[in-house]
Amino acid sequence: MSTLVVIGAQWGDEGKGKVVDAVAAQADVVARFGGGNNAGHTLVVDGRKIVTHLVPSGCLYPGTECVLGAGMVIDPDVLADEVAMLRGFGLLAQDELRVSLHAHVIFGFHRDLDGAREDLAARGPRAIGTTRRGIGPAYEAKAARRGIQVRDLYDRATLRARLEQNRDALAPELERLGCGNAIDVDALMKAAEGWARFLEPTICDASAVCHAAIVAGRRVLFEGAQGALLDVDHGTYPYVTSSNTTAGGVCTGLGVGPTAIDAVWGISKAYATRVGAGPFPSRLEGPLADRLRDTGGEYGATTGRPRDCGWLDLVALRYAARLSGMTGLCITKLDVLAQLGHAEICLAYEDGIDPGRDGLALARPVLRKMDGWDDPRLASDLASARSYEALPPVARAYLDVVTEAVGVPIALVSLGAERSQTIFVQRPFESR
Ligand code: IMP
Repeated sequence: MSTLVVIGAQWGDEGKGKVVDAVAAQADVVARFGGGNNAGHTLVVDGRKIVTHLVPSGCLYPGTECVLGAGMVIDPDVLADEVAMLRGFGLLAQDELRVSLHAHVIFGFHRDLDGAREDLAARGPRAIGTTRRGIGPAYEAKAARRGIQVRDLYDRATLRARLEQNRDALAPELERLGCGNAIDVDALMKAAEGWARFLEPTICDASAVCHAAIVAGRRVLFEGAQGALLDVDHGTYPYVTSSNTTAGGVCTGLGVGPTAIDAVWGISKAYATRVGAGPFPSRLEGPLADRLRDTGGEYGATTGRPRDCGWLDLVALRYAARLSGMTGLCITKLDVLAQLGHAEICLAYEDGIDPGRDGLALARPVLRKMDGWDDPRLASDLASARSYEALPPVARAYLDVVTEAVGVPIALVSLGAERSQTIFVQRPFESR
């Protein structure tokens, strides 16, 4: 086995950065297939906090190739800043970053549109609560076949024509939203020159890069962004991001066939969080929600927004597992749940609501209180566990309930932000 997909199984922010980082230590190539800098991975290494938004987590390991795939939307200024930050730490050598020629470029006017639309919508029920990074407008342009790919930065005539096309298509809306002369084609042509120079050493056919690595038997990790329930096709539409975040996104976003995927790990917190608008059946309100948020540090890595918090929803998790054909579950932040002195879990929805058929807007959770989570020693017993067998029985019972309801075995358990606080139950890149 040489390939593994790691994706979020909830609404993003599941602790993917940490899990992917732990797995990336054993990978030769780490490739992202979708999204952009709406994602934020917080990595803690030797007490140092590093946040990445675009570069895959393999960046922390010398010699690991980091690939940004065609399915991504890339803000070149953000990428340049991130690369400079990583190089400041002595990470990510020049030949370790590979950017797909087919990825789409986010321009300032995409960001302007995203922000202005959100401001307008904030007054009504239609606000999505986007990250305002221009993600939706960039994917919109791609679907409308006026998007600008990385390759277009090297063809000045095409670039100018495409920018003019976007200006003509978007000017009325930008004007209506008060964004002024947001598409100054000459200024953008100039900015694009700098981006082209910066990106030139990195550009590649990412599909070919992945294919060559797979054929050579190298270990390739496909790193997800956001979470399954934010998938544009299968998530809580329209409260979703604009790309495919489920495992199928690997195939389309990187040009890798489904037969090349050996295993799929889905990451879920031991509880649930959501940022932005949209249904969240097991959402908590009041002091318990506040305590969960504070204990878990549940504030967005990208926007700093407080996240809504709730109990782990096994119906939604089972749905996410099906969408991506998950072969292993990674449960993170079990230590946070242990500090609450109380745990519940959502086993079903009232009236048999089905996430795929009915959506989640009307789902009301059927909750089960978990025994033993009020034990004051639980948190410290959990913190010291370094193997699955050493986990307190209460925690193992919790994980058994999860496995049974979702029908997918546990692959990994995370008990804290440090790399050492990770228990591997399955080995990545090894046969099931
Ligand atoms: P967008 O991707 O910025 O368009 O935002 C659309 C929705 O997806 C909003 O609810 C965001 O909060 C959410 N979202 C996008 N990326 C992430 C992420 O990485 N983590 C959590 N939520 C995200």
